Amino acid sequence: MRIVFIGPPGAGKGTQCKRLTERLSIPHLSTGDMLRATLEQQSALGRQIASFINHGMLAPDYLVMRIAKKRLLESDCKNGCLFDGFPRTIPQAQLLDEFLQSLGTQLDLVINLKCQQEELVKRMLKRAMIEFRADDTAETIASRLKVFRTMTEPLLEYYRHRGVLCDVDGMQTPDEVFEQIREMVSVRKHKRAE
Ligand code: AP5
Repeated sequence: MRIVFIGPPGAGKGTQCKRLTERLSIPHLSTGDMLRATLEQQSALGRQIASFINHGMLAPDYLVMRIAKKRLLESDCKNGCLFDGFPRTIPQAQLLDEFLQSLGTQLDLVINLKCQQEELVKRMLKRAMIEFRADDTAETIASRLKVFRTMTEPLLEYYRHRGVLCDVDGMQTPDEVFEQIREMVSVRKHKRAE
C-alpha cells in the first residue's frame, strides 16, 4: 500500500502515520522530519531549508523531490510506504506520480484529515508548551495555515478527480480517527485484491 496523508498543520498526520506504520509494517516517510534532519546538519543547504521552515513557508519542490526520491529508492519502501505531508503542491503530486509510475507502481489511497482551524491552533500551541519546534509560534502557525489553504488544498481536487481521496474527520480522539483510517485502508486493500 502507498498512502498519502494530507491535512493542515496539527491535523494529526504524524500521529496517525505512527500508528499505521506499525499496523501495516511499511515505513513512515515524513518530509517535515527529513527536512528538519537536513536543517540540523548546519550546512548551507540546512540554512536554506531553515529559512523556509522557520517562516512557515514550503521548501522548494525540487529540493523536496530530491530528498523524497532518494528515500523511496531504499529497500524498505519496496512494498509500500506512508507519505506524511508529501506531496504538498500540484507539481510535487505530478512528479511523485511520474516517479512511482517509473517504478511500476502508484498511489492506493490519499487520506484527507479534516480539522477546524481553532482546534489546529490549540493543538500546536499546546505542543509548543511541551516540545520545541521553531515553527510552533502563533505567527508561524498562521502562515503555515495560509500556505496550506493556498498551496496544498488544490491537491484535494487533483486526487478526488482520480478517485483515491478519502475524507476523515480529524476532530475526534486519536483512537476514533485511527478507527476511520483503519476501515478505509481495509476497504482499499480488499478492492486491490479483487
Ligand atoms: P511537517 O513536519 O510535516 O509539519 P505540518 O504539516 O505543519 O504538521 P504538524 O507536524 O504540525 O502536524 P500533524 O498534522 O503531523 O499533526 P501531529 O500528529 O503532529 O512540516 C513542517 C514544515 O516542513 C512545513 O511547514 C514546510 O516548511 C516543510 N515541509 C514539509 N513537507 C514539505 C513538502 N512536501 N514540501 C515543501 N515543504 C515541506 O499532531 C499535532 C499535535 O496535536 C500533537 O501534539 C498531537 O499529539 C496532537 N493531536 C494529534 N491528533 C489529535 C487528536 N485527534 N486530538 C487531539 N490532539 C491531537
